[in-house]
Amino acid sequence: FNVPLAVNEPVKSYRPGSPERAELKKMLEEMRSVELDLPMVIGGREVYTDKRVRIAPPHDIKHTLGYYCMGDQSHVQMAIDAALEARVKWNAMSWQHRAAIFLKAADLFAGPYRAKINAATMLGQSKNAFQAEIDAACEMADFFRFGVKCVTDIYKMQPESSAGIWNYNEYRGLEGFIFALTPFNFTSIAGNLPAAPAMMGNVVVWKPSHTAIYSAAVIMEVLREAGLPDGVINLVYAGGPQTADIVLNSPDFAGIHFTGSTRVFQSIWKTIGENIFKYKSYPRIVGETGGKDFIFADPTADPQALAIAMIRGAFEYQGQKCSAASRAYIPRSIWDDVCTRVGNELATVKMGPVEDFTNFVNAVIDENSFDKLAGYIERAKEDVDAEVLFGGNCDKSVGYFIEPTVILAKKPDYTTMVEELFGPVLTVFVYEDEELDKTLKVLDQTSEYALTGAIFSQDRYAIEKMTRMLENAAGNFYINDKPTGAVVGQQPFGGSRGSGTNDKAGSIFNFLRWTSIRTIKETF
Ligand code: SER
Repeated sequence: FNVPLAVNEPVKSYRPGSPERAELKKMLEEMRSVELDLPMVIGGREVYTDKRVRIAPPHDIKHTLGYYCMGDQSHVQMAIDAALEARVKWNAMSWQHRAAIFLKAADLFAGPYRAKINAATMLGQSKNAFQAEIDAACEMADFFRFGVKCVTDIYKMQPESSAGIWNYNEYRGLEGFIFALTPFNFTSIAGNLPAAPAMMGNVVVWKPSHTAIYSAAVIMEVLREAGLPDGVINLVYAGGPQTADIVLNSPDFAGIHFTGSTRVFQSIWKTIGENIFKYKSYPRIVGETGGKDFIFADPTADPQALAIAMIRGAFEYQGQKCSAASRAYIPRSIWDDVCTRVGNELATVKMGPVEDFTNFVNAVIDENSFDKLAGYIERAKEDVDAEVLFGGNCDKSVGYFIEPTVILAKKPDYTTMVEELFGPVLTVFVYEDEELDKTLKVLDQTSEYALTGAIFSQDRYAIEKMTRMLENAAGNFYINDKPTGAVVGQQPFGGSRGSGTNDKAGSIFNFLRWTSIRTIKETF
């Protein structure tokens, strides 16, 4: 059962003069100059349709990267049929052969495809080089390598046997197919959601976000090159509701692996409930949804560490991480100091296209997101309960650029302190030092979501108290660090309440959801 040791893929620096920087720059140029025509991949066949949808970089909306083929419900049905056809052989394949495919894919992402998957993520999703590297190349390789470790750790778990009686567990894939519905904000999540069930012997219908088709196509290319058999993962580009309509009505629907909005997940869950009599088995429902992640500081917090965590936590990848810090609670006694430091650091932050590697902030994903964020910011400028301290400019003439914005809220339940915005907007509430306990309670009570959260303090008693009082407010809890950047194999990721089923992506807890165990007892 020994598999190659899973270690996190080292993140490359991309500093000026480095070979990886030169390679990535060249790849970006090449990819900007070729016009894409991306087919679906169903049963190993490239499927083209008459309907083409344009792909443009969110930071450069007049530039056309190419087109993808839009499918319809017949393609979704085709994908289900292809998955079911592939199922028996795939499920029966030995774990070593399945694992080898994903280990090879990990090496391809970390090696020959590193520049391509990073560039596709940069151009298609407006992620800067450093964020793309952490996500698309490194976290993807990590998900696959640690995934193989999780799978083999599960196979090793066996019941006791006794004299004359031999008991063992057979870890079968689920009877049917899995639906992977993946987000734009992490290319690695888009890869992991179909791959994790497949590693356990399942077959998958995969619908990526329509705002991340370019990187999805590269993921599929790598999986095929790594030797994934036809039909095991089927990539379809059709409308969300149209796809769900076919998938969730199929008697063979066996589970969903989802990352996206709370509202969509809830409506899928409801439909699954309504259709429950149609299915052969109870479907597995695994989802990571919204977040309203916090930073809470006490009066002993290190102001500089706190300011950096606020900026990195809130503004890396334009705040479009489900883990992004979007509200901060700072005590009055240190606020002036922290505010000055945040202002000084923000003054050094540059915004612009991803092709210029000195830009820390790039564009948000699309016009809907831009309009929503701009709306919140405009209202905050006029509202008596809020004040825009830094940033606040929004411009969609070239790309969907929202300046990193810090809003000061005069009350702890101000709209942007409680609603998920999913963009580069951080709202701060300054509390009176003597009201620390009360503010912690308010934080917990206003946490409709419970994904990530961070506390800053240098007082061990206070750290323990805050950790206890915020017990249910986050599934990933950070002490003296920003609430983003969970590393596969080190911080299993997921939260509860409105944030999801907390099945901890990239860990054995997640992989256990993708197997249906047969326990065999044989007597002699
Ligand atoms: N894993 C990412 C993070 O922790 C979010 O999905 O930032």
